[in-house]
Amino acid sequence: MSENAIVFKDVLKSFEKEDGSRQIVLDRVNFVIPAGKTTVVAGGSGQGKSVTLKLILALMQADSGSIIVGGKDITGIRGGRLKKLRTRFGVLFQGAALFDSMTVFDNVALPLRERTKKTEIEIKKQVLESLDQLELLGHENKFPAQLSGGMKKRAGLARALQLQPEIMLFDEPTTGLDPVMTQEIYQLFARTQKLVGYTSIIVSHDIPKIFNLADQVIVLNNGVMDVFPSPEEIQWSQKTHIKNFVQTTMGEIYQSHLVEK
Ligand SMILES: Nc1ncnc2c1ncn2[C@@H]1O[C@H](COP(=O)(O)OP(=O)(O)OP(=O)(O)O)[C@@H](O)[C@H]1O
Ligand SMILES: [Mg+2]
Repeated sequence: MSENAIVFKDVLKSFEKEDGSRQIVLDRVNFVIPAGKTTVVAGGSGQGKSVTLKLILALMQADSGSIIVGGKDITGIRGGRLKKLRTRFGVLFQGAALFDSMTVFDNVALPLRERTKKTEIEIKKQVLESLDQLELLGHENKFPAQLSGGMKKRAGLARALQLQPEIMLFDEPTTGLDPVMTQEIYQLFARTQKLVGYTSIIVSHDIPKIFNLADQVIVLNNGVMDVFPSPEEIQWSQKTHIKNFVQTTMGEIYQSHLVEK
């Protein structure tokens, strides 16, 4: 795989408003997601974080500019190429989106049953192995309603990891979880990433907690994207909206060096 997992070049994305005018969500943004690293996408509500993920997954198309995934331009991608593109991604949306009528085992096995030709014996072995890794062994016959919030997230993560994705997208993976569980989920991400080596993109409001995980941070504001090669660099920005962001989310003194990765 190339060094850059994803490249956005002059990407413009807008939506038509009810009055016929256009709302610009991404105003010709440029950024690179380095392969094998963790990029955190931050920014206020409605600033285009989820839209950015949807563009990467080709669930939406940009108005102009290009989006390159693994060296290939995905503009206008359809059919078999789109299907193939999606197999490279693992996606964990908010709420984990497990199927309520299926057990944990069946939820996790689903991508293998749908997308591979593995036998049930092979599937069983692989699913139980990942459930073991994510400390869910013994819960495989439970239904989502019988799980705690953190267990649901872990089951969602197990499912997202089945096809061994090159790129993991997490959209606010800890929303609604308590601080202890939030910390556990992030530690789990760090461990799993070490194990699998995927590129990860995490949309999160957990600032600065999430910075322990981040190699790069992207802040979205009013259609503009600011890219920081490390979380530490955010505090040195001279831009007013970034300074405000730092003050409201991190307080006056940012002490990330005190926290071990
Ligand atoms: N399909 C759509 N049609 C029209 N407008 C949309 C569509 N999807 C998103 N938008 C608009 O684009 C803007 C960015 O939305 P997005 O979902 O990316 O926000 P976000 O940064 O993820 O916010 P949050 O933190 O609340 O999840 C919002 O103003 C939203 O209303
Ligand atoms: Mg969102």
